[in-house]
Amino acid sequence: MNELKHLAIIMDGNGRWAKAHILERSAGHEAGARVVEDIAIFAAKRGIKTLSLYAFSTENWRRPQREVDFLMKLLSKFLKSKEQMIVQNNIRFHTIGDISAFDADLRAQIQQLKSLSAANTGLNLVLALNYGARDELSRACAKLAKNNSEFSEDNISAALDTAEFGDVDLLIRTGGEQRLSNFLLWQASYAELVFCPTLWPDFTSAECEQICAKFEQTHRRFGGL
Ligand code: IPE
Ligand code: IPE
Ligand code: MG
Repeated sequence: MNELKHLAIIMDGNGRWAKAHILERSAGHEAGARVVEDIAIFAAKRGIKTLSLYAFSTENWRRPQREVDFLMKLLSKFLKSKEQMIVQNNIRFHTIGDISAFDADLRAQIQQLKSLSAANTGLNLVLALNYGARDELSRACAKLAKNNSEFSEDNISAALDTAEFGDVDLLIRTGGEQRLSNFLLWQASYAELVFCPTLWPDFTSAECEQICAKFEQTHRRFGGL
């Protein structure tokens, strides 16, 4: 049986969910944000070590300014309202991606939640914010070059934002699209991939459990037999 240590999710489909309910896209993002809490608690209770969630990509800045502004506000609200949930569930909060692009207030809030949860020992909840795998890889290479370090696989892995979380075991994308959209390209090189049609706001811990249980029964060969 495979051990599921690192689960990564591309939370896609908020806009289509809103459209189906004849609502603004923003309502889809709000509904999606509520699901994050359910899945984080599910992962914590299941004993998953790391849950990485794709929340905002380096490409998402291309959306209309109104939507980008809304997503930033929603993130701020999320960080404020989840403190208790994070503490109660012994979750450690982390981010990957280049948050220097965010405004100072948001960065301070992120830092506060990281500090508040730093001593927790349960699930690592990793939000990918202004994250792009290519940006992450090029920042990692720049770090190595600056230190005159060899570009070995181990050194590259250690220079990535995910250094302490390691490779992804299982990557789920909701919303039915079958692509990675620049998420964890290095870390998911041997991940099991699951693309499910459910739109993110409709995703439940029960569906997640089904996918995780199936993963545990999969024969992962890693190129061997
Ligand atoms: C994912 O949902 C959330 C973010 C990318 C922030 P989308 O907003 O991409 O939803 P669809 O793909 O348009 O349905
Ligand atoms: C991927 O979803 C990014 C996040 C879920 C944060 P997108 O909706 O931005 O991806 P594309 O544009 O369909 O590839
Ligand atoms: Mg999308």
